[in-house]
Amino acid sequence: MDQNALKLAAAKLALDYVEDSAIIGVGTGSTINFFIAELIRTQARIKAAVSSSVASSDLLRAGGFDVIELNDAGPLSIYVDGADEITRDLAMIKGGGAALTREKIVAAASEKFICIADESKRVDVLGKFALPIEVIPMARSFVARELVKLGGHPEWRMREGKAVVTDNGNWILDVRGMTITNPVELETTINQIAGVVANGLFARRGADVLLLASKNGVECILRTP
Ligand code: 5RP
Repeated sequence: MDQNALKLAAAKLALDYVEDSAIIGVGTGSTINFFIAELIRTQARIKAAVSSSVASSDLLRAGGFDVIELNDAGPLSIYVDGADEITRDLAMIKGGGAALTREKIVAAASEKFICIADESKRVDVLGKFALPIEVIPMARSFVARELVKLGGHPEWRMREGKAVVTDNGNWILDVRGMTITNPVELETTINQIAGVVANGLFARRGADVLLLASKNGVECILRTP
């Protein structure tokens, strides 16, 4: 089974959590694109979606769904999103698609976070995938120096020679070389650096459910209290 087939299998199972007339949170990335395609294919009868990126909003609208602002939605019952890495405790690194800040906000506003992923995302210890950090542009260099003090090797994210700009108008630092044995502590520490908008550790508010697809099927892993 190729990776796309696994992403699709996880995305299909996530539909079980989608209730008629609900306003749902929808994440960003290639795995979530399969989920959006499934919402469209099955003509899911949701009331509306709150999305974590312009890219996902565009796909949802093109599929006929209402996309509304979080400010107009109130608490969301579910948030469905992918991950770059996820542990057995359902702590994650996210932000490979530069949408981490909005992802964190929509996740925080949702009662249940359902992560959909293929088995390549499962790790014992977070940190092989470079940790994305969204920074206010004027603080880039200062934040990078602070991250070096924490033992990381930050790199300014570029695409085709230009700085990647997030949907919020900010820049991304990708931090390599961190073995993250205490993600909750590191998430808190990085949040306290002036100029950091959000970091890609989702440990304080991790996933509640992981739908993890492998060639043996989709395993449903629940967060243990
Ligand atoms: C985007 C994200 C994505 O959820 C993460 O990068 C996984 O993406 P993909 O499903 O394409 O592997 O955090 O900011």
